[in-house]
Amino acid sequence: MKRGLLAALSTVLLTACTGGPAPDAGGDEIYGLLCARCHGAELQGGVGPGLGVGSPSAGRPDEYLLTVITRGQGGMPAFGNTLSEDQILRLVAFIRERQADGS
Ligand code: HEC
Repeated sequence: MKRGLLAALSTVLLTACTGGPAPDAGGDEIYGLLCARCHGAELQGGVGPGLGVGSPSAGRPDEYLLTVITRGQGGMPAFGNTLSEDQILRLVAFIRERQADGS
């Protein structure tokens, strides 16, 4: 319990210092930091298209999501320089989880 709190705290501190997610941040955390403002906290969409259940990206292959996130597309910024490949893979896993969730 205490250790979890410490880990959470160090993630917050790291984020505050670097302006980006911690290297080992989970997909949900990275999403909240970098994506939610355009795609909505619940993946419902906003500036960018919805990414949740029944959205166009739910029917697209992983490679498509990876490419759009890494290189950007139209109004979607590229994150290939901000995030590691691992972090982007965690993001895609998080999005897939939510698409499967029904939420
Ligand atoms: C500044 C606003 C903005 C931010 C921040 C942003 N996006 Fe986007 N995103 C967009 C827009 C706009 C599009 C539509 C691009 C197009 O096809 O023209 C898009 C498209 C996408 C697509 C493709 C959706 C589809 O149906 O084709 C995915 C996947 C995606 N974004 C994921 C993410 C993730 C993950 C993050 C966080 C790392 C993120 N976006 C951050 C605006 C944003």
